[in-house]
Amino acid sequence: MSAAAEERLEALADEIRAHKGARCGFEVCETCTQLVPGVGPASASIVIVGEAPGAKEDAAGVPFVGAAGKVLDSLLAEAGIARDDVFITNVVKARPPKNRDPKQPEVAHHWPWLEAQLDIIKPQWLVPLGRHALARFAPDAKIAEAHGTPLEVDGRRLFPLYHPAAALYNGSLRATLVEDAKALGRTLS
Ligand code: URA
Repeated sequence: MSAAAEERLEALADEIRAHKGARCGFEVCETCTQLVPGVGPASASIVIVGEAPGAKEDAAGVPFVGAAGKVLDSLLAEAGIARDDVFITNVVKARPPKNRDPKQPEVAHHWPWLEAQLDIIKPQWLVPLGRHALARFAPDAKIAEAHGTPLEVDGRRLFPLYHPAAALYNGSLRATLVEDAKALGRTLS
């Protein structure tokens, strides 16, 4: 991957961060501490897409650094994937107040940034985490059926996983997430 791609990805991240001062009228953009563009190299062959930053991510400016991030780290380890080799981001780049679900107009407002990131990275695999992220790429798919298996939609290869936070709230999903992460690792190798 060229240095130019890294530069374009970083310029896009700067643009996303600068949006904090834009006074766009969207609650998420105006109430967050900072927008969280994403982290990882432009050469990543996998892009992992969560829903929206939480409190820890809002403070750090980095996605998946809180409790769900720890679960994600352990899943990547199960899959044999190094965190530094993947690009990690969210559908919505700003923390919704009180961690409410992002609203559809907020998703639409932030969607072009994710498309632009994918356009630069051109990953081989997209890993949507949870039903909200999956819905953006495969509106007809259900996470309960689609998790843990490859899926192709509009020329994109998806490998949906349950959201790592699900393992925090529903312990019985942790084993499923681990199995799915191992299946992801096998699919990639
Ligand atoms: N949950 C998400 O969906 N994204 C994060 O960055 C953190 C928690």
